[in-house]
Amino acid sequence: MSSPYVGKKIIQLDTVDSTNNYAAKEFKQGHIQSGTVILAGEQTFGRGQRGKLWQSSPHENILMSFPLDLTFFGNLNPITVNHLVSLALYDFFISLDLNAAIKWPNDILINNKKIAGILIENQLEGKTFVSSIIGIGINVNQLYFDFPKTTSLYIELRKSQDLKVVLGKIISCINKRLEDSLHLNEYDIRRQYTYNLWKINELTGFVTNGNEIKGTIISTESDGGIIIESEGKKMKYYNGEIQFKERL
Ligand code: BTN
Repeated sequence: MSSPYVGKKIIQLDTVDSTNNYAAKEFKQGHIQSGTVILAGEQTFGRGQRGKLWQSSPHENILMSFPLDLTFFGNLNPITVNHLVSLALYDFFISLDLNAAIKWPNDILINNKKIAGILIENQLEGKTFVSSIIGIGINVNQLYFDFPKTTSLYIELRKSQDLKVVLGKIISCINKRLEDSLHLNEYDIRRQYTYNLWKINELTGFVTNGNEIKGTIISTESDGGIIIESEGKKMKYYNGEIQFKERL
């Protein structure tokens, strides 16, 4: 069994604005330790990436956040934290024999539909990243969504799932990847992440600066950038600078 860096303690809330907000506040005030999981049945202001909202039917899905002390993990770089958490969720879905992929930078897709999202917020002390609040939303038992190209475990497995069992498995996948981080270098972790990216080495449509381009993701870099080759030229983009044309 891997060491319980995450999930030794779980705080279950019925309703909260956002589990990320709650975890950040409680961690800052010293009320919770690194790895304590905040779980909510419902969020009134669930936050997604880049200012979007995260919507989820009450009590049907996993809405969780936990603080992580990066200094314990040899001052992990936040980009590597993103790789580890994305890989942990990927591992979980693969363990269920689902056709999973990581959509850059950190959505998890099953059969080209979004099933999980990750929101990582980092805390700096001087120039050093000392901790992250890691928020994870996983669609588990929700059957109907307002957005197209969205799925859940219930839809994919055709069977409703026990949220506690799913949570336990997710936590153990996260702990396993965190354990790996203690003996793998950041390059090896990034290599595994890149290998499991959606549309890697496939010609795909993107939109950047309002222009449509066709290109191929060929690699990622240690600063979180992605390298896309288009018409013989290699270009680097950061999160928010380029979107897949196929909207999810
Ligand atoms: C995204 O795909 O845009 C990221 C979604 C992250 C959602 C989770 S749900 C639990 C945690 N609390 C939040 O407010 N957001 C994250």
